[in-house]
Amino acid sequence: MSNQVRLFCILNDGGNMENIENIKQETLQAIATAADMKTLEEIRVAVLGKKGRVTELMKGLGALSIEAKKEMGKSLNILKGEIEKALEGQKEVLEAKELNARLQSEKIDVTLPVRPENQGRIHPVSKIYEEVVAIFGEMGFEVAEGPDIEDQFHNFNALNMPANHPARQMQDTFYIPNPESADFDDSFVVRTHTSPVQIRTMEKNKLPIRIIAPGRTYRSDYDATHTPMFHQVEGLVIDKNITMAHLKGCLYDFVKAFFELDEIPVRYRPSYFPFTEPSAEMDIGCKKSKTELKIGAGTDWLEILGCGMVHPNVLKAGGIDPDEYQGFAFGVGIDRLAMLKYGIPDLRTFFESDVRWLKHYGFVPLDESSMTGGLSNNGGLAR
Ligand code: PHE
Repeated sequence: MSNQVRLFCILNDGGNMENIENIKQETLQAIATAADMKTLEEIRVAVLGKKGRVTELMKGLGALSIEAKKEMGKSLNILKGEIEKALEGQKEVLEAKELNARLQSEKIDVTLPVRPENQGRIHPVSKIYEEVVAIFGEMGFEVAEGPDIEDQFHNFNALNMPANHPARQMQDTFYIPNPESADFDDSFVVRTHTSPVQIRTMEKNKLPIRIIAPGRTYRSDYDATHTPMFHQVEGLVIDKNITMAHLKGCLYDFVKAFFELDEIPVRYRPSYFPFTEPSAEMDIGCKKSKTELKIGAGTDWLEILGCGMVHPNVLKAGGIDPDEYQGFAFGVGIDRLAMLKYGIPDLRTFFESDVRWLKHYGFVPLDESSMTGGLSNNGGLAR
């Protein structure tokens, strides 16, 4: 306890008006000159704490006559209020002082050059994002965006998944209550895929469309290859006379460029997505062993993305006439691409913010991905 507070406590109290005035003067004086939060707290305890001066006086009220009790009680309450207000005021002053002192002492000059050993690294997800944008940018695609918090219309209904459609259950959706409606159909979702950006792009009413939409997606799932938040890139092309051949050619060019290989075996397996018809999954050839995964050779197959021709109902929901326009779409997991390309075994480590992990798996910031200058800049790997 500071000297100031100790002095203040040993003063003798008695329950009369004069004393109340004394307590008030002394306390307010002590509060105004308290130099730190600790002293302020000590003052509070000494006056308003369980055995504080004012508390003790309040305890003594019971012994007084009704008249005196009324008068003293009122004065003590007023005193208490004044002291609390003063404590609050001084607290704000001290907090501001502390903050200013910290801001002064923690000042850094951000224009100074970084020491090489302290240089930050680009996260593999950002790197893959850059690579994908570089590849599709070269093919004439634009980057489109949509919100993380979606309505059910864009995430489901417009994608040919009306309420109660069984495919909705496959998506392990996180729902967010709508403060303006108790109806479950009005609740929002954190988007379960980037496909709602297809609808948002169609709604803008500019044709033809050639976009990719990279972004965050969310599903209630957690193990070595699933995290509740993950990343996808959506692709959408809509024009007149678009066929499955365009889809195959486009994706073939993509995987070759992405894996930086001249040849790569690919195959399409029939699949199902409510928003594409026909739907397919694309596999790439690889060789799997216990310790290694070699892409581009061997007799094994690895599934890498879902795709298909845009379902006529989806075009209609986006305000496009399916008799006049066709399109193809695909969706691929960015994190999964990163795991494959850079040999990272556990997806959960992506989002643990461990700087040692980032130093190991991250990339040097100045090695930008481009189709002409090199995609992954393997020479520049931070390892
Ligand atoms: N949205 C699908 C998914 O998340 C992927 C996909 C996108 C499939 C576009 C076909 C067309 O699994």
